Amino acid sequence: MLSNLKEKLPDSYSEISETLESAKLILSEAVPNAQTLFHTPVVSTFHENKIVSRVMVLREFNFDKKLLRFHTDNRAAKIKNLTKNSSATVIGYDPDLKVQIKMQGQANVHINNTVTEAAWNESTARSKKCYSVKGGSTKEIENPAKYDIDDFDVEEGYKNFAVIVFSFSSLEFLYLKSSGHRRALHKWNEEYSSTWLVP
Ligand SMILES: Cc1cc2nc3c(=O)[nH]c(=O)nc-3n(C[C@H](O)[C@H](O)[C@H](O)COP(=O)(O)O)c2cc1C
Repeated sequence: MLSNLKEKLPDSYSEISETLESAKLILSEAVPNAQTLFHTPVVSTFHENKIVSRVMVLREFNFDKKLLRFHTDNRAAKIKNLTKNSSATVIGYDPDLKVQIKMQGQANVHINNTVTEAAWNESTARSKKCYSVKGGSTKEIENPAKYDIDDFDVEEGYKNFAVIVFSFSSLEFLYLKSSGHRRALHKWNEEYSSTWLVP
């Protein structure tokens, strides 16, 4: 799968539109393919005046709507942080492809609505299982073994389930190649614009 993706990407970039097309291919492939590095990008948000980062599984990439979808536990610290400040960055780097993709935008939390219902219904029992853990993430505990998930009804986890929809307004593509690095910035404000940057 991964080697196929590499074959679909250009070896060098002369047109800026090629960087966006490559980013679209990489992010589309990242959703179903857990072997790709962009399947688990780093999501950074604010906690008061500090930046906090964590790895999350990319569940959806919709270029037309300019969104990425992530799933989480609504008891996680990032939920409270995002309701105070929705500004977020998503970044990943694939050393095999030599490509870094960085997106900036707003991350909005969904709990118990049509968005979470649709996402829950398409989740596997294995994914649903995480949301049945007692106490929720970030709670300080003495013995993690007591929090292993044994026998339970996976559907019980829905009450702890949340979806984070990240709407991006910029995408930066960095390609590292010894013959000449390429860095391109794509922005969607009132209108779409793009520019090369010094790498
Ligand atoms: C490979 C991998 C995948 C992960 N996927 C998710 C995920 O999809 N959603 C999530 O909330 N946390 C995921 N985590 C855990 C987060 O990195 C993080 O530890 C947790 O969400 C608590 O973050 P918070 O305290 O900032 O809310 C994943 C961690 C790893 C290592």
